Amino acid sequence: MTTFASIPVKKTSQSRLSDIDFTKLEFGKYIADHMLVADYKNGQWHAPEIVPYGDLKMSPAILSLHYGQAVFEGMKAYKMKDGNISIFRIHKHHERLNKSLARMCMPEVPHDLFVQGLTALVETDHDWVPRTEGSSLYIRPLVFASEARLGVKVSDEYKFIIMTSPVGPYYSKPLRVKVEEHYVRAAEGGTGFAKCAGNYGGAFLPTQQAREQGFDQVLWTDAKEHHYIDEAGTMNVMFVLDGKLITPKLTSAILDGVTRDSIITLSHDLGLPMEERRVSISDLAEGFNSGKLTEAFGAGTAAVVAPIATINIHGKDYQLPQAGATSFQQQVKQKLHNIRIGAEADEHQWNHIVRIA
Ligand SMILES: Cc1ncc(COP(=O)(O)O)c(C=O)c1O
Repeated sequence: MTTFASIPVKKTSQSRLSDIDFTKLEFGKYIADHMLVADYKNGQWHAPEIVPYGDLKMSPAILSLHYGQAVFEGMKAYKMKDGNISIFRIHKHHERLNKSLARMCMPEVPHDLFVQGLTALVETDHDWVPRTEGSSLYIRPLVFASEARLGVKVSDEYKFIIMTSPVGPYYSKPLRVKVEEHYVRAAEGGTGFAKCAGNYGGAFLPTQQAREQGFDQVLWTDAKEHHYIDEAGTMNVMFVLDGKLITPKLTSAILDGVTRDSIITLSHDLGLPMEERRVSISDLAEGFNSGKLTEAFGAGTAAVVAPIATINIHGKDYQLPQAGATSFQQQVKQKLHNIRIGAEADEHQWNHIVRIA
């Protein structure tokens, strides 16, 4: 069996680091100096290496461009108080990557390739990890079909790439979201639980239309009845209803978010009762009318916790109070931050530490 204990690094002779204004980081705009590249051929992953970030030479016939075999992850690394770097929940992201790959008939990425490759990449580009609170190094692992062939078929060849990007806060203000009752992101039995490229392309039109109507995001509903909330744009969604944290229980149409999972665990630590269950539009409308719905927020790697100010249900805007320092979402956001930077004990072993000499 191939092992990936030591990954060769070809360093760039021209770092772009000094061109970056770390006080003005737009999400995903800057990509760090290096990337990991590995190829899958003849049933195996071969020769991973870290090379200067740059263009790839590819045939326009590669199967991923035509038939959508492309899967990715989104993760973050944080500068810790002691100068080391923590990569958040590397094993859970690896597990989800492989679930997505399996759904798309793509080969799994071995655990040691993922972990050793990512560790070596972050070590190489450690100066790209921002130091200010609310900023981090976004990590984008990507696998795509690279066999050049026009017939509809499962590819025999793939590329695994990891890129990184220094990022600041994602949303600057609380969100206005619209319950989507016409379009569908994913149906049960489909690919909604997988982080595959096509799920995002299909979401663009409804999201763009919602933006034109003055909303930041849509709240996706189930494909059968448009009655149950699935998730929010590129985040899972959570509510505090009647003093309890509730979130839609996972189905094959919902992405199993790592932030969602972490917040569920921390709700137990913070002593807030929690329930994963179906959440209907009527539950929300009744919660607003009775005053029992006190918080709503998106949970995802990019935004971490994104407060929701307004939910539009059947064309009517319902407002939520501003989430103050004692709100659950602010408390849990702070706790996550503290764990990641090493200011609080990492009781659940979520940090993968990259030691910086
Ligand atoms: C569709 C979708 N749902 C939920 C999430 C949140 O998942 P995570 O917390 O793992 O980033 C994301 C972001 O990755 C997403 O793209």
